[in-house]
Amino acid sequence: MSKRIFFILLMAGLIFACSRPKNAESPARPIGSAIAIPAPLGLPPIPTPADNPPTADAIALGRRLYHEKQLSSDNTLSCGNCHSPYIRFADGLKVASGVRAQQGTRNTPTTLNAAYNLTQFWDGRAASLEQQAGMPIANPIEMDLPHEVCVTKLSANQSYRDDFVKVFGPGPITMDKIQKAIASFERTLLSGNSPFDRYQYGGDKTALSAAAIRGLAVFTDKNRGNCVTCHVMGEKSALFTDHLFHNLGTGMDANGDLKDAGRFAQTKVEADRGAFRTPSLRNVAKTAPYMHDGSLKTLTEVLDFYIGGGSSNPQLDKEIKPIKLSAQERAELIAFLESLTGELPANAEPPNKH
Ligand code: HEC
Ligand code: HEC
Repeated sequence: MSKRIFFILLMAGLIFACSRPKNAESPARPIGSAIAIPAPLGLPPIPTPADNPPTADAIALGRRLYHEKQLSSDNTLSCGNCHSPYIRFADGLKVASGVRAQQGTRNTPTTLNAAYNLTQFWDGRAASLEQQAGMPIANPIEMDLPHEVCVTKLSANQSYRDDFVKVFGPGPITMDKIQKAIASFERTLLSGNSPFDRYQYGGDKTALSAAAIRGLAVFTDKNRGNCVTCHVMGEKSALFTDHLFHNLGTGMDANGDLKDAGRFAQTKVEADRGAFRTPSLRNVAKTAPYMHDGSLKTLTEVLDFYIGGGSSNPQLDKEIKPIKLSAQERAELIAFLESLTGELPANAEPPNKH
């Protein structure tokens, strides 16, 4: 290495060291060896961040935390209560119900396959699973537990102290560690190998009914369903989302005003008003009700909504316009959506109590 390059690197290192705040919680990293999480048929390889490689111990701790009711102020609510393994990692409610039965404003999305989302939440306001995991804990209408209290509560428990040392090495429990462990567990909440996947990607032409195969054609045909434009399918895998935000006119009140600004609240771009992230359609037959506000009760209601061209408003997406489908085509499209019900991960249920 030339002297000049060495000097530049040295200066860069000094600037970096000095620019870091003194008492900032230093980011933790799991100490064990990273394991490869196999993707089920129909799903792409699972993305993992460089600073949080999934280790077996981190995943096990994350699973324990995910089902831990102590993460809520009154010890009644875990992540797993709203994203329940028994309801395809959703809750079956119109809008979420937090501690003290407080009503939220949005429908609970499934955490199955959330590991593939490029942003989290209906409005994309969290950039990663790690960042997302801290938010419901502190949210006053969800778990309502300030982060300092969360750390203090878990730190009072010897078995948690032991688990965190096992995963991250010696040192205190921190929110950074809590969020990383939960995110690693969520990366194992994968659901693929549905009848559709076996047909489309597994070469099993008997896996789908004739009706579902015709429904798939309606789904992908730009002149009929036009669904695939936003609920994207790939050559080797399908997530059924473009990861983008669209306005369908959902959630308008009696005056035709959008009740929820959606993506606009993040970007302040007028075109994003009332736009929400395209959800995946995997397991959709099991996660009613639908849309960011849970306003549509059944898949039939969802189809009726699309057939009518959504709800007219200035930001309505140009891909949403009235479509013509025969009664038979509707039934076929629903048969297709039902074929997207996949397998559940092996570690879905809460771990045994310590
Ligand atoms: C009171 C019910 C409730 C609890 C408890 C809860 N969530 Fe959620 N979760 C929701 C709702 C509602 C949303 C959507 C909110 C929004 O988009 O603004 C959501 C969104 C998410 C998302 C984003 C999924 C997507 O497709 O965008 C993830 C991931 C998630 N929650 C994980 C967790 C984790 C981890 C915990 C525990 C630390 C947790 N949730 C606790 C109700 C809950
Ligand atoms: C312009 C992009 C776009 C097109 C085209 C589109 N969707 Fe959607 N879809 C979305 C968005 C965005 C949402 C979420 C809207 C909201 O929550 O307000 C959604 C929601 C859904 C939901 C509810 C999922 C859930 O978990 O709540 C279903 C089911 C669905 N779409 C099926 C379809 C079908 C079937 C078609 C074709 C007839 C279709 N979509 C066409 C973007 C699109």
